[in-house]
Amino acid sequence: MGERYAKIVGWGKYVPERVLSNHDLEQMVDTSDEWITTRTGIKERRIRGPDDTTSSMAVEASKRALEVAGLSPKDIDLIIVATSSPDYLLPSVASIVQDKLGARCGAYTLVAACSGWVYALVDAHQYIANGAYDTILVVGSEIISFAVDYTDRTTCVLFGDGAAAVVLQASEEPAGVLSFELGSDGSGAEFLYVPGCGSANPLNEHTFERREQFIRMNGPEVFKFAVRIIASSLKRVIGKAGLLPDDIALFIPHQANARIIEAAARFMHQPMEKFYINLDRYGNTSAASVPLALVEALEEGRCKPGDKVAMVAFGAGLTWAAAVVQLGTGELSPAYQFFSLGRARYLAKKAAYAVQDAAQAALLPLYTFVQRRGRRKRRRK
Ligand code: ACO
Repeated sequence: MGERYAKIVGWGKYVPERVLSNHDLEQMVDTSDEWITTRTGIKERRIRGPDDTTSSMAVEASKRALEVAGLSPKDIDLIIVATSSPDYLLPSVASIVQDKLGARCGAYTLVAACSGWVYALVDAHQYIANGAYDTILVVGSEIISFAVDYTDRTTCVLFGDGAAAVVLQASEEPAGVLSFELGSDGSGAEFLYVPGCGSANPLNEHTFERREQFIRMNGPEVFKFAVRIIASSLKRVIGKAGLLPDDIALFIPHQANARIIEAAARFMHQPMEKFYINLDRYGNTSAASVPLALVEALEEGRCKPGDKVAMVAFGAGLTWAAAVVQLGTGELSPAYQFFSLGRARYLAKKAAYAVQDAAQAALLPLYTFVQRRGRRKRRRK
């Protein structure tokens, strides 16, 4: 058997419709759009609708990923779902996803907080590289809002719900994960945790009273850890792949805070334009954050076939995970059409917005004239 690589052949996302903006949060806690925007970069986030569950969102994202790959659920050999907000404690949410999709394969849930999806990607890469499986679905799906205390302004402004999925398939073409690093430092467990809900401190009226079913976070400690770990782990995985930071076309960092990403970019001596950001629209979606950014970067044509992208995540644990991934080349990738299609769609949308803006600007004098005339008429009456 020749060398086997795990090429990305499909990708898809699902985000709930309901938008929770900074202005909405101003009505809920003592905060302001200005504080949230300048301290985090987040403007809005999506919150689950009544019918959304972690499994239903995972299924929607997966269906889109399979469509792009031109595959059916029956083609999947393994499903890995990264999440910290499963539908239930038992059964594993991955089994629910497998059933809802109509796939016939093994499935497991992976918990490594916000780093979970990159951990899952590395798992999938191993199964394919060693010949165990050919086609693996790797999903990140989170309804993290269920563990957010909407009376705590230090955490509730940060998080949002969402899901994204990627299909990996065996290929002889050098592509997929070129290098990776998985890390954990459990001594920082209490910097970011949910004190109630688990077996150590089961949920009861006392835990409820102390609001221990919600996320507690030491923001400044997590911030310092994140800045240090993003830059250092990225440098190590890029080195392991035999590359330099300049060889990376796009960095896909965990979408927690724009200031963390800016600091990491400075440490890496790389321009901010090379760091993909969508946290302004989604906030921190935990294990869905990196795949959601990757999927949108692909849809917008921010990276192209053959490019090397570097991903990095960090989160509760404390955990971190980084990987350098090479995208498949055009002719060999069934997803190539979608690259061009995604780019075309992005450019079309941009052009439509430009036309809309121009039309609005052109019509503004007419609108003002009609408004003034109406006001004058009303005054005369
Ligand atoms: N609105 C207004 N003021 C606020 C808010 C808010 N939403 N939140 C905190 N403040 C106040 C604080 O009370 C504090 O006031 P004080 O000086 O009177 O005490 C002041 O702002 C400064 O607070 P800091 O915590 O020092 O603010 P900082 O600049 O560090 O920003 C933040 C806080 C955004 C949480 C930052 O520390 C951060 O992003 N940390 C990393 C968090 C993170 O990435 N977590 C997710 C990890 S991934 C996972 O696994 C889930």
